[in-house]
Amino acid sequence: MIYSTVDGQTLKICKVLKEAMAQNGQEVDLCSIDDFDGDLSRYDRIIIGASIRYGLHNKKIIDFINANKEELDSIRTAFFSVNLVARKPEKSAPDTNPYVIKFFKSIDWKPDVVEVFAGMLDYQKYPFFDRIMIQLIMWMTKGPTNSDAKIEYTDWEKVREFGMRLSTL
Ligand SMILES: Cc1cc2nc3c(=O)[nH]c(=O)nc-3n(C[C@H](O)[C@H](O)[C@H](O)COP(=O)(O)O)c2cc1C
Repeated sequence: MIYSTVDGQTLKICKVLKEAMAQNGQEVDLCSIDDFDGDLSRYDRIIIGASIRYGLHNKKIIDFINANKEELDSIRTAFFSVNLVARKPEKSAPDTNPYVIKFFKSIDWKPDVVEVFAGMLDYQKYPFFDRIMIQLIMWMTKGPTNSDAKIEYTDWEKVREFGMRLSTL
């Protein structure tokens, strides 16, 4: 399981997925994209999780997928995205979340399983510029804008269900 996180929410989701898979007897190595040595040959499945920042997943994740396309195509794979737009029920599925739709239009890779989770909003954690920008995005999408807001939108039941699905991947 390879992840990209900035504030830790994607990692938190990975840990719950790993736990759910462990309950099904699955052994999972969890590794940040920054630390992964690139050797995929040890694995029969790869799960990639990445969060959205200003509309995009981490470029390192995209480069990794492009660089390893052949290997990824030869094993079972899954991808999940974490973003705040997914807090809206009508944008919380892979085929309705704009970032996931755009991502798969921009990349030549089709994982076996795709999912999307709502992330975390924590204004106090963000530097000034980011806070203003996220407040603007939230205002435009009718979300909370008070600078004390700290809301975890992640649906943990959905995460655990995804963990179960991954166990049978
Ligand atoms: C600087 C910044 C930019 C963000 N941009 C977006 C965005 O464009 N769309 C969105 O839905 N969520 C956006 N988010 C929300 C994050 O995707 C969300 O907080 C997620 O939980 C972050 O996961 P991470 O902690 O694993 O990086 C942004 C968050 C920050 C701090």
